[in-house]
Amino acid sequence: MYSEKTIKHFKEPKNAGEMQNPDGVGEEGNFKCGDAMKIFIKVENNIITKITFLTYGCIAAIASTDMLCEIAKGKTLEEAENISAKEIADELGKLPQLKFHCSIMGQKALKRAIEDYRNKK
Ligand code: FES
Repeated sequence: MYSEKTIKHFKEPKNAGEMQNPDGVGEEGNFKCGDAMKIFIKVENNIITKITFLTYGCIAAIASTDMLCEIAKGKTLEEAENISAKEIADELGKLPQLKFHCSIMGQKALKRAIEDYRNKK
């Protein structure tokens, strides 16, 4: 059902955890399952320098958000906003279709974190 890479990102996420003094925070809930996601970002010169997440989500949510963080690090805010679900799934190997709604929770939270950062500026 899941690729080895997905299992690895689920078991050993590099970007899980709360961030102290983030520049932006975004939250997203998943109406299908009731789970939740929170993303924290640090931004310097329009570049995401640090990104972490907290979630009550499942394997797909944790692995895909950890991969999202890996992809988003070092990107401009505009590039990070445009990271697609396909890009994340391609990097992970594959994700079951029925878990698609879990895999986009991180992206939505990231967009809100970027919005939060822009509103604070
Ligand atoms: S089942 Fe809730 S995030 Fe996947």
